[in-house]
Amino acid sequence: MSSIHVLENQAFLTYLSGILDAHFFAKGHSEPLRALEVGCGAGHFSRILSAHYGSKIKITAIDANENVIKKANELSEGLVEGSVTFKQADFNKYSDSAPYDVIVFTKSFHHCLPINEAAKNAWKLLKNNGLIVAEELIRDYPPEHTIQWYFDHFDPLVAAKVIDPVETLSSGHFGPDPQEQQHQGHHDHGHNHGHEHNHGHNHGHNHGHNHGHNHGHNHGHGHDHGHSHGGPEAQLQRLNQFCDPKKSATERWNIFYDATHGLPEKKELIDTIVNVFGNANTRVTDTLPFIYHHYVFCGQVFFSILKDTEEGRAALAKMIADEEQAVRSGEITPIGMNIVAEKVE
Ligand SMILES: C[S@@+](CC[C@H](N)C(=O)[O-])C[C@H]1O[C@@H](n2cnc3c(N)ncnc32)[C@H](O)[C@@H]1O
Repeated sequence: MSSIHVLENQAFLTYLSGILDAHFFAKGHSEPLRALEVGCGAGHFSRILSAHYGSKIKITAIDANENVIKKANELSEGLVEGSVTFKQADFNKYSDSAPYDVIVFTKSFHHCLPINEAAKNAWKLLKNNGLIVAEELIRDYPPEHTIQWYFDHFDPLVAAKVIDPVETLSSGHFGPDPQEQQHQGHHDHGHNHGHEHNHGHNHGHNHGHNHGHNHGHNHGHGHDHGHSHGGPEAQLQRLNQFCDPKKSATERWNIFYDATHGLPEKKELIDTIVNVFGNANTRVTDTLPFIYHHYVFCGQVFFSILKDTEEGRAALAKMIADEEQAVRSGEITPIGMNIVAEKVE
């Protein structure tokens, strides 16, 4: 197993296994746990979770994008038969003949639009007392000093070529932009809802509150995220701009932010889950480091960018430690959040 992914997923594995141990195994759950991972990408987390629990867990891992499922299957040769089953499926339309003990969203709940349908489907797919556990990005526009901190850490790694986004992109390793593919034909619903905003305006003065991009996002179209990523050339252009230290930190951050335009922010994610599962059954931890994930896998927009070399792994380990420290000391605003909710009928 590629160890950069083990390192990247360590914190969430610890969090999730703590919950599963307490909620199921410590209470004498003896059957293999039926788990569903949603938005599994190339399947790194499912393989890590399976390696952690062995025969105590049976995982189905789905992703809407067939390219990543193909990749996941390629990477899973040699895995114990039946321990992890990868399937191409849109979670919002997903059904199964038997219910699950746990549904895990790995940075994917905010993609399963509309998320109220996703939350309802999760409820439907769970056994009573089953859990959803969502590892989530807080997409709300961060304060400028947090963005600056991001690039202060990012730039030296790019300069040292430990991160080489352009090389990764041009390797074609991940195939075409998955969301672009996924949403082909969905862009033309005649509701150009105002996100061709003025990129030149000053984002830099926002400290903690939503900046001006956040308008009209809830356009209520299940399929259309409203963020066309363009083809490979557009991706390359975005990457080059994102990596350009001559641009201001906020200008660079906006390239990422705008490319994920229309995806729900923190309050909407929490409210949606609370609406379906109930306040008393939902727990939120919203003080988690997350920036480091962008170095390994920067969303659908930049793909995997940190090299899985000794140098790359050392850089990631340092980044994780630095970010934990910066969050703990209050130097930066955390952009990671976990949500766990129990189905109580
Ligand atoms: C940010 S990526 C996370 C990938 C991986 N879990 C990780 O942690 O690196 C989100 C993933 O969710 C998938 N996705 C988006 N919408 C989905 C849906 N409705 N159903 C299933 N998967 C979806 C995307 O294709 C993508 O692979």
